[in-house]
Amino acid sequence: MTTKKSTDRVIEMLNLVYTAEIGAIGIYMDQHARMDDQGLKKFAERLKEDAVEEMGHAEHLMERILYVGGAMKYEKHEVPRVDMEDVATIIKVNIDLEVRAIDRLNQGIRMCYEDNDNGSRLLMESILKDEERHLDEYETLQENLEKFGDNFIVNHLI
Ligand SMILES: [Fe+2]
Ligand SMILES: [Fe+2]
Repeated sequence: MTTKKSTDRVIEMLNLVYTAEIGAIGIYMDQHARMDDQGLKKFAERLKEDAVEEMGHAEHLMERILYVGGAMKYEKHEVPRVDMEDVATIIKVNIDLEVRAIDRLNQGIRMCYEDNDNGSRLLMESILKDEERHLDEYETLQENLEKFGDNFIVNHLI
C-alpha cells in the first residue's frame, strides 16, 4: 500500500472512468462478434480495434489508481437497452457512449485542476483525445450511412 497521492474524489473519478472503459470493451466486443457473424468483416474489425484501444485506457487507469494509493472498484457498468443487430443501431449506441465518456472526462479534468493532480489530469486528457477521435469516426460513419444507405455498407463495411 503506497501513500495516497490523490484526493478521494479524484480516485473515485478514476474508478468511474475505469468502469466505463471496462463496459466499453464488453460492448464493442459484443458488437464485433455480431457484425463478424453477419459477414460485415471490415466493420467488425474496426469495432475490435476500438475495444483494444479502450483496453489500453483501462490498463493505464488501473496503473494510475494503484500508483496514487487507491483501489480498483469493479462497479456495474451500463449495458445498452437496445438490440445491437444492425449497423445504424450500433453506431448510435457508440456515439452516445463516447459522448458520455467525453463529458465524464471533462468533469474529471476540471476536478484534477481543482485538486492540483496533474498526473491524473494528463492521463484523462490523453484518454479524452482518443474518445474525441472515436466520436468523430462514429459521426462520420453515421453521416455516410445516412447519405449512401446500404451502398455504404456494401462498399465499405463488408
Ligand atoms: Fe476509452
Ligand atoms: Fe472510445
